[in-house]
Amino acid sequence: MTSRYFSYRDGRLHASEVALDALAAEVGTPFYCYSADALEHGYRHFAAALSGLPATICYALKANSNQAVIGTFAALGAGADVVSEGELRRALAAGVPAHKIVFAGVGKTAAELAAGLDAGILQFNVESLSELRLLSQIATARGTTAAVALRVNPDVDAGTHAKITTGRADTKFGIDAKEARDFLLANRDIPGLRVEGLAVHIGSQLTDIAPYRLAFERLIALYRELRAAGVALRRLDFGGGIGISYEHGPTGEEVAEADARVTAYAEMVRALVKDLDVELVFEPGRLLVGNAGVLVTRVLYVKDNGPRRFIIVDAAMNDLIRPSLYDAWHEIVPLKAAAPGAERRPVDVVGPVCESTDTFARQRPLPPIAEGDLLAFSSTGAYSFVMASTYNSRLLAPEVMVRGDRSAVVRARMDYETMIGQDRMPDWLAAAPDEDLSPNRQAGKTRGAA
Ligand code: LLP
Repeated sequence: MTSRYFSYRDGRLHASEVALDALAAEVGTPFYCYSADALEHGYRHFAAALSGLPATICYALKANSNQAVIGTFAALGAGADVVSEGELRRALAAGVPAHKIVFAGVGKTAAELAAGLDAGILQFNVESLSELRLLSQIATARGTTAAVALRVNPDVDAGTHAKITTGRADTKFGIDAKEARDFLLANRDIPGLRVEGLAVHIGSQLTDIAPYRLAFERLIALYRELRAAGVALRRLDFGGGIGISYEHGPTGEEVAEADARVTAYAEMVRALVKDLDVELVFEPGRLLVGNAGVLVTRVLYVKDNGPRRFIIVDAAMNDLIRPSLYDAWHEIVPLKAAAPGAERRPVDVVGPVCESTDTFARQRPLPPIAEGDLLAFSSTGAYSFVMASTYNSRLLAPEVMVRGDRSAVVRARMDYETMIGQDRMPDWLAAAPDEDLSPNRQAGKTRGAA
């Protein structure tokens, strides 16, 4: 992989202008590294593509919710799309103004709705009529009014991986379009609520514009119909989902490719909303962060099991679950550039977790790799660290951000005290007499008694 932001210099892979092997020496492996320059490029290009439109870009925190990442976008004027109280708090703490925050999600609790109301957010994207009733009650009880968009299920197939598709009628997301329409026509005044908008989000990692156009056309038709009937709508939320390239050309074509995709998307939107009196919200996640991050890992062992060669690295499915969960393909490159013309042979790259699904790549042609080498998994800025766990009681990896030639640890590696210290012994164990029933001990006792 090389790109404008991740490239080999003197044979060493750099993020922005920082050598990743030097970071590995400083923070240990595995670790995530994000390029702030890449983050800023992504945001600026998206904003520029939409320039002139009355649009709020609400970065979808779920893709990467490190405070430094949110803060980087907030400094450029971004809003936030949040799906939990935790994300709401993160957005506010990173400096995103409440009036640029949308709160989405199919299962918001009463406490989360109240937290959003207290913060004074831009809009709740409501996903069921039951949620709407609960929000109405909570807002009324607090003597306030909630701004709402109804998330409509447009019944469009996004043509992406089944596990990340959300716009079909058979998914749990959104409200059936006809149900939303009938409800809004029949209920003009709902206590504590101002229904101001309609929202859609049809899936993630979309690389084709056509499903978007179909979904947006349906949403716009509904918007026009409801406005004509006197429903005071003023906003459309087109969700997120713009895909990135996980395969990198030799000179970083993925950045140009993402830019071209964004431009095409923005032109499509521009044409659709021309003549429409409307404010817009966009919720990009992966697009802004996916190709701005790498996961760096060290090779622990190389082992040949019969004809198959396994490269066992110190990162595992707990650090990066996308290959196990979605069969996702991430490019794997050595930090030290392979010799020109080096022969590639198929290897399996696996982690140390005791599951056969802890496999990052099967039969991947890679240049020669030795024990101790450092490797990078590319395109791991989105849905990677945020989906990490401590499975197998492995510590959460640290996150580093670079900008130009500077670097900062933006999340330290978890330590064992923190990991174990969150558990508590119940009283009965703390007070229990020391009774050792292990077979060895039993045998010992018997012998001692004889
Ligand atoms: N808005 C809503 C309502 C969403 O559900 C999502 C993502 C987004 C925006 C942002 O979508 P993006 O622009 O990032 O595609 N873990 C999966 C992706 C799950 C996406 C969930 N929703 C993966 O690793 O591919």
